[in-house]
Amino acid sequence: MKEIVILGAGNVATHLTVALKNAGYNIKQVYSRNLSNADCLATLVGAEPVSDLKNLYRDADFYLIAVSDAAILTVAENMPRVSGIVAHTAGSVNLATLERFERHGVLYPFQTFTKDRGVDFLNIPVLIEGNRSDVKRELVELASGISNNVQKADSQKRAALHIAAVFSSNFVNHMYTISQTLLDASGLDFNLLKPLISETTQKALTMNPVDAQTGPARRKDFGVMGEHVERLGSQKLYQDIYQLVSKSIVNTYHPGSPFFS
Ligand SMILES: NC(=O)c1ccc[n+]([C@@H]2O[C@H](COP(=O)([O-])OP(=O)(O)OC[C@H]3O[C@@H](n4cnc5c(N)ncnc54)[C@H](OP(=O)(O)O)[C@@H]3O)[C@@H](O)[C@H]2O)c1
Repeated sequence: MKEIVILGAGNVATHLTVALKNAGYNIKQVYSRNLSNADCLATLVGAEPVSDLKNLYRDADFYLIAVSDAAILTVAENMPRVSGIVAHTAGSVNLATLERFERHGVLYPFQTFTKDRGVDFLNIPVLIEGNRSDVKRELVELASGISNNVQKADSQKRAALHIAAVFSSNFVNHMYTISQTLLDASGLDFNLLKPLISETTQKALTMNPVDAQTGPARRKDFGVMGEHVERLGSQKLYQDIYQLVSKSIVNTYHPGSPFFS
């Protein structure tokens, strides 16, 4: 049975580790700089918790680094040399970050993960990159044990996907947060927005998003847009966001048209 060492105990590490365990892989160790975090995840899957990279098991088949992007290089630099495949799980970190390892790669699960919220890993696309064909093949095999949608993508394609994900997921979710703040300020319930959010998402999934757009910016209704900006008066950042996104919409549907400010 293939042996895996997990480095990290956050959102992705947790979901990935549980999915791999459920698929029958042997999770040997969970490393976290904080032993109690390592212990929490290790206990879930019957692994050994470690908080010192010097104590890492040397003979695993895979070392999956699922720590914050900025910490991947530091963790990799402080790991012992191993002959197993060392792979990270980030969208925007280059493959070369792991080049000190003879066999290195990337296993990027293309979904938004929050530790305590369940996900169905089988439907999550997993993007694979490797420095050699045998590494790619073994990572594809590993990922195919937990996902029905495994694809190869080099660092450039992965970075492009990550940027698209920031727009489709992170930015959209932040728009919900802004909406909630505005509703709260007027004593209105966020639940009122839920049918709208649901239908907008369904339209984006079933129509071409460019055809699904509605609203004052698509109609180039500068009167309404001006009123909205005025109403946001005390919130300069929200005004700027409103104007910038509206400008992008107007430019998409009315290219070359002047924009109010
Ligand atoms: N979340 C997502 O939706 C998502 C989706 C796809 C890919 N990814 C990628 O997956 C990776 C992990 O993301 P995440 O969301 O799981 O992050 P996270 O929940 O914030 O967890 C980050 C982990 O990194 C550890 N860490 C942070 N700085 C460290 C350092 N200097 N040395 C050692 N460990 C350190 C943290 O340890 P402590 O617990 O001690 O702080 C924690 O275990 C990232 O590369 C991210 O780009 C994330």
